Amino acid sequence: MTLLIKGGEIVTAESRYRSDILVDGEIIRAIGDSLEAPLNAEVINATGKLIFPGFIDPHVHIHLPFMATFAKDTHATASKSALIGGTTTFIEMCCPSRNDDPLDGYHSWKEKADGNSACDYAFHMSVTRYDKNSETQLREIVQDGTASFKIFLAYKNFFGVDDFEMFNTLTLAAKLGVITTAHCENAELVSQLQQILVAAGKTGPEWHEPSRPEAVEAEGTGRFATFLHETKAVGYVVHLSCAPALRAAVDAKLRGTKLYVESVLPHFLLDKTYAERAGIEGMKHVMSPPLREKRNLPALWGALQTGLIDTVGTDHCPFDTGQKLLGAGNFTQIPNGIPGLEERVNLMWTYGVKRGLLDIHRFVDALSTRPARLFGLAPRKGMIAVGSDADLVVYDTDYRGTMTARSQHTNNDYNGFEGFAIEGRPSVVTVRGKVQVRDGAFVGEAGRGRMLRRVPQYFIEEIHGR
Ligand code: URP
Ligand code: ZN
Ligand code: ZN
Repeated sequence: MTLLIKGGEIVTAESRYRSDILVDGEIIRAIGDSLEAPLNAEVINATGKLIFPGFIDPHVHIHLPFMATFAKDTHATASKSALIGGTTTFIEMCCPSRNDDPLDGYHSWKEKADGNSACDYAFHMSVTRYDKNSETQLREIVQDGTASFKIFLAYKNFFGVDDFEMFNTLTLAAKLGVITTAHCENAELVSQLQQILVAAGKTGPEWHEPSRPEAVEAEGTGRFATFLHETKAVGYVVHLSCAPALRAAVDAKLRGTKLYVESVLPHFLLDKTYAERAGIEGMKHVMSPPLREKRNLPALWGALQTGLIDTVGTDHCPFDTGQKLLGAGNFTQIPNGIPGLEERVNLMWTYGVKRGLLDIHRFVDALSTRPARLFGLAPRKGMIAVGSDADLVVYDTDYRGTMTARSQHTNNDYNGFEGFAIEGRPSVVTVRGKVQVRDGAFVGEAGRGRMLRRVPQYFIEEIHGR
């Protein structure tokens, strides 16, 4: 398969220039002016369009048994919606519960994805308990190419780990040279606050945010950072939502802690009034950490622009309205999460780059290049360079549309961003040289996606003596 993409403007994390791209097989073979089309090449006219490296979502849930139900997507539905939205690789949280065998869980997540994803993917391995078998099992998982861990400092008795378990996970992560991602809250405080609110008859979705206030997230973020510092592990805060947690993360960065920060799409665009809407409308917007007071949004945008927030993910987590209604009489039973995999690129483009809040190169960096570098996917992914995988997004900046559940591809019956206008969308999306999307439609090969195996990359000299 040979592709020649002609006349587009390449935009990477560092540069912007007009050039042709020649793709041979799965790889970018040449970048240059007036490249000749080899015999049998398909020529894509990208005149007037931007060409981005395929976007990478560093935080999604596809298969997710959680809160007495399962998230709605399959790897087939999620990967198509990802591609239509310009995301060519996602990293899924493999989340067995505390009571499951971690290695069995890992294999079952892999089996669900294998042969079913239309885009490439990798996993973060959740450590939801730490016991005598953990080191052997986690070494095996890392050896298999899953070189990042996830811990939850929330969801007591389900995914959550205590400080002893966090310490041991980070100590092992430092030894193995892998990065640990963390959901930062304080599980005990959340549990106590939930009980107090429910006992007082405060059961609607508007009480979800007060049950996990900003201070609780700031405490979790600060504690994670302290444990990183003491264990010399490398960490990554997922879905940071508010200014106090950001301050805790920045303080740690300033102390030299090796800590990276992700915020997710909903926290840039929505505020807590969405979850305060009556009934099911509010429930649709229940996620953790919760949507926050509006005053936090400028802090997140500013930190993203300056790079204090490193990446933008989605925490894609589709529970439909029937599932959300499980918590109709008690907000603590509302399945947490909101979809966003299909929407992330177009919304961050429209409300970030087009509105002047986000430089175009930082946009590419935060949504593609930095996730690739942090999680060991570069230089194959996250860049447009000779020898890199030909994961390319030819982007139509003239497109005008609106987010709506009626036309989405995610397997869900609502869209958390219903009615949001967009000012651009991918016109062609390739995965390793194959055109998978044209103008909002999946036209490619289902099941083309491969699991991306990664090697540990965070060996700290003081620990490893090298
Ligand atoms: O509300 C959320 N974020 N649901 C998914 C699980 C998690 O915390 O990542
Ligand atoms: Zn989380
Ligand atoms: Zn998540």
